[in-house]
Amino acid sequence: MHNIQPISSDLIYVGASDRRLALFENIYPIPRGISYNSYVMLDEKTALLDTADASVAEQFFENVAATLAGRTLDYLIINHMEPDHAALIASLLLRYPSATVVTTAKAAQMMEQFFGNKPAQLQLVKEGDTLSLGRHTLVFTMAPMVHWPEVMMTYDATDKTLFSADAFGTFGALSGNLYADEVNFEQEWLDDARRYFINIVGKYGLQVQNVLKKAATLDIRMICPLHGPVWRDNLTFFIGKHDIWSRYEPEDKGVVVIYASIYGHTEAAAMRLATLLGQRGVKDIKAYDASHTHVSTLVSECFRASHIVLASATYNNGLFTPMENLLADLKAHCWQQRTVALIENGSWAPQAAKLMRTELEQMKDITILGETTSIKSAATPEHEAQLNILADEIAKSL
Ligand SMILES: Cc1cc2nc3c(=O)[nH]c(=O)nc-3n(C[C@H](O)[C@H](O)[C@H](O)COP(=O)(O)O)c2cc1C
Ligand SMILES: [Fe+2]
Ligand SMILES: [Fe+2]
Repeated sequence: MHNIQPISSDLIYVGASDRRLALFENIYPIPRGISYNSYVMLDEKTALLDTADASVAEQFFENVAATLAGRTLDYLIINHMEPDHAALIASLLLRYPSATVVTTAKAAQMMEQFFGNKPAQLQLVKEGDTLSLGRHTLVFTMAPMVHWPEVMMTYDATDKTLFSADAFGTFGALSGNLYADEVNFEQEWLDDARRYFINIVGKYGLQVQNVLKKAATLDIRMICPLHGPVWRDNLTFFIGKHDIWSRYEPEDKGVVVIYASIYGHTEAAAMRLATLLGQRGVKDIKAYDASHTHVSTLVSECFRASHIVLASATYNNGLFTPMENLLADLKAHCWQQRTVALIENGSWAPQAAKLMRTELEQMKDITILGETTSIKSAATPEHEAQLNILADEIAKSL
């Protein structure tokens, strides 16, 4: 059964959602599922904008066929070659052999790499090139490294719609409501949108800033991303979030406490600090056990908040691995411009604070606050006094 949704009289949503996949890109947990968006334009000429993941092939092809209703497909526009959108290109072209593939030279090269040959009818486009479908004029704009080097976006200059590829996307399956203004986005989607953005394109803040600058010159009334809901209202809210995220600036003034603890003594000290912060009026403190919370959530939370407490046990002269993993991931995502406080633990030669400091010093504009609380096995009344001082300093710096 097809499951298509008209967006306008000649723009149809033909994507589909997957709630079975546990790990997106085989690494990011997606308990709320994911959507693979794809769109058909029914003008004098017909065009399909991107395909979908192989997991939703059956639904996708049924949707495309129902939308075209016997018409031929004239153009297949490929904005991004990652297989979550591009996996079905070869099989689509078997079904619609007369379609001309419109894409970048880099994407065409990747088609050859993935499928063994370039499409028979291929139209390469560069920055600013246009394609007329009849009523609609499409303008192509390059978006390298948002999220791969071959990425472009397609702007429908007629209806002022931006087909934004992976940008402005989010984890989360669609559940009957196609538009962001039909769901409780801030409460139910924003955390996943942040986690998606930070982990997937967060490393490329500069390139995202370039795209935002280009977008600012366009009159955009609707954003059709490759994942998650379509934006037709309050676009500035979501664009503003991407602006903050891609500048690496904190979204919230607040504290996130993350501990990596084997037997619980480091955890106890970290949670004592959290309580002392609460007693000083700090609101909405979030605490995470790095062994239990996926690193993609931890990284996302470190991007959201301004102040981070990192507490780690020493482990074979190194950091307890969940903390080591988190710091490596933060570094990989160019995490910067934050205030950090450190707690360490070790029963014979505590090393954790020194090792965390070494990692943090390689990042840009990280301020390490106060004295490190160094625990030997279990915290003492002396540590309670130190944690009180640290809580004062964190509260003051907020
Ligand atoms: C496998 C393992 C390796 C450890 N390696 C070190 C070490 O190299 N140096 C050290 O001072 N303590 C080391 N420790 C001790 C812990 O850091 C210490 O017991 C600490 O109090 C644990 O805190 P926790 O209760 O939060 O897990 C190790 C503990 C374990 C289980
Ligand atoms: Fe991608
Ligand atoms: Fe994607």
